[in-house]
Amino acid sequence: MDIKTDVSGVNLETERLTLRPFAESDLSDFYAYASVPGVGEMAGWPHHESIATSERILRSFIDEKEVFAVYHKADRKVIGSLGLHRSWANEDEAYKALRVKEIGYVLAKEYWGQGLIPEAVSAVLEYGFDTLGAEAFTCGHFLENDQSRRVIEKCRFKFVKRSEYYSQQMRRSFEDMKYILNRPL
Ligand SMILES: CC(C)(COP(=O)(O)OP(=O)(O)OC[C@H]1O[C@@H](n2cnc3c(N)ncnc32)[C@H](O)[C@@H]1OP(=O)(O)O)[C@@H](O)C(=O)NCCC(=O)NCCS
Repeated sequence: MDIKTDVSGVNLETERLTLRPFAESDLSDFYAYASVPGVGEMAGWPHHESIATSERILRSFIDEKEVFAVYHKADRKVIGSLGLHRSWANEDEAYKALRVKEIGYVLAKEYWGQGLIPEAVSAVLEYGFDTLGAEAFTCGHFLENDQSRRVIEKCRFKFVKRSEYYSQQMRRSFEDMKYILNRPL
């Protein structure tokens, strides 16, 4: 079962980050990380070739209300995104009765390896289980994406299945590894 999400009034604080809705004023921060080759490609979208692309996507983040901006408190800028999307589990007989959302994330390259996304994910899991009434979250990574696999493992997701994902934007298929995390008892 899908859960309606609206991040527009939500602020989640962690030690180093604030997760909050995107605003139009985040455009230059967003473009700065989304235009770096090799970041979006690991998540299935091509890096932005122009600020107009970032502006269009930013507008969709604001309108769709599913994506948090990952704001770095000390550096005072947006360094990534974390989205709560419709999950494959909603179409899977074994899981479709669960109230579930899919988590997706991207982080600016210069911030990789500091445990920032695990920190953000754990805040979102707590919010989802306690406030949204989620019973589970799903997450996934492309087979070759060891960095995302490590985030998923460190956040204690359990592997469910492997499937093929076709990215229209990248015009290629990926082997997609899918995981689930149930609400702790
Ligand atoms: C996946 C991603 C969000 C991880 O965020 P993060 O905050 O760096 O996560 P962590 O700090 O926990 O690092 C995860 C793993 O990345 C690897 N790593 C760390 N620093 C790295 C670096 N500078 N370069 C390459 N890999 C690195 C390590 O294997 C680490 O695992 P470990 O903690 O067991 O050593 C980030 O790498 C990213 O934005 N990648 C591109 C987009 C993407 O893949 N999104 C997910 C789509 S499913």
